[in-house]
Amino acid sequence: MLEVEGLEVSYRGNCAVDGISLSIAAGEVVALIGANGAGKSSVLKALMGLVPAASKRLDLDGSPIAGLPTRRRIQGGLALSPEGRAVFPRMSVDENLSLGRPGGGHEEDRNAIRRMFPRLSERATQAAGTLSGGEQQMLAIGRALMARPRLLLLDEPTLGLAPVIVQEIGRIIDEVRAAGTAVLVAEQNALAALGWANRAYVLTNGSVTMQGDAADLIDNEEVRRAYLGV
Ligand SMILES: Nc1ncnc2c1ncn2[C@@H]1O[C@H](COP(=O)(O)OP(=O)(O)OP(=O)(O)O)[C@@H](O)[C@H]1O
Ligand SMILES: [Mg+2]
Repeated sequence: MLEVEGLEVSYRGNCAVDGISLSIAAGEVVALIGANGAGKSSVLKALMGLVPAASKRLDLDGSPIAGLPTRRRIQGGLALSPEGRAVFPRMSVDENLSLGRPGGGHEEDRNAIRRMFPRLSERATQAAGTLSGGEQQMLAIGRALMARPRLLLLDEPTLGLAPVIVQEIGRIIDEVRAAGTAVLVAEQNALAALGWANRAYVLTNGSVTMQGDAADLIDNEEVRRAYLGV
């Protein structure tokens, strides 16, 4: 579904992503794990066309998307739930959801998202800025799902959230995958992300240093020492 080769992102000459390659097939949940500043968010933003990037190959379903504006990439099946959630605090939950899908005709999708996130449903008219951190994270994911993506990009969904909410996010990722949407999740919380994913890439200083089945990486000595704190 997504094929990336030699992706590079630099900020004013400073290299943040140093020519990485990755691929995601339909139906997969893939984790991108790495420490602060490893380049995870830069990868996701580059896939969405939110930062300038260079690549040898950037194909979605076999068609090149490099150079397409973000709007066209969303139409092509990508959607991002950004790091830090970025909900619009004065707008209601429902209004934030609608922003995920400009152009109307989305009532049915909003109902589907309400079923997936009962807590959002109960708070449909509440200002998004008054939601708890966990609820705001659900809203950011729900807003991305409003675009009906075939590949959902999640940037650091567990950031600052309690273990019980982290579990809830895992349940949502399972549901999203079961509905036929692939997921690429960037996480510092390697233990959680490797638990959700079938495959993973480890990003270190802008390069992929390890990759493989999530179950194998959980058992990998180096991963355990560097990212799992065990
Ligand atoms: N807009 C920007 N301008 C300049 N440098 C940036 C910008 N965004 C990111 N960087 C730099 O690029 C590098 C990678 O940052 P990035 O946010 O992609 O990492 P990350 O893996 O998502 O980190 P974290 O886990 O803290 O979110 C860092 O050194 C960061 O300082
Ligand atoms: Mg980040």
